[in-house]
Amino acid sequence: MYTEKLMQLFMNPKNVGRIEDADGIGEVGNPVCGDVMKIYLKIEDDRIVDVKFETFGCAAAIATSSMVTELVKGKTIEEALKVSNKDVAEALGGLPPQKVHCSLLAEEGIKAAVDDYLAKKGNTKREASETKQCAKA
Ligand code: FES
Repeated sequence: MYTEKLMQLFMNPKNVGRIEDADGIGEVGNPVCGDVMKIYLKIEDDRIVDVKFETFGCAAAIATSSMVTELVKGKTIEEALKVSNKDVAEALGGLPPQKVHCSLLAEEGIKAAVDDYLAKKGNTKREASETKQCAKA
């Protein structure tokens, strides 16, 4: 049910780990499946210069975490906020319908980490409530 690209990233995910002196950390989870994703961002001049993740979850959660880190690396935070779960799913060659929520977790993880970065800077221009809710399994 998974594409070859997804399986490759699940077996050999990129950007796994943590950034000790991260500028923004986002932790999101899905209460239904219990999967948890943590994203670490290193940001310089509002550009993501490094990004890592730790994910406890299914194959799609691991692969979407890996893909979203690749998609946002090198982008400005504004550009990174535009990366949607659809972009992540498309970059993986598609997801089975019951696994779409895994890509939503990836989108939300980046947004939560950016929110954390902005909050630390004392900048609240992006409201956390803009984040989509991920409540469906
Ligand atoms: Fe819930 Fe994949 S993130 S099953």
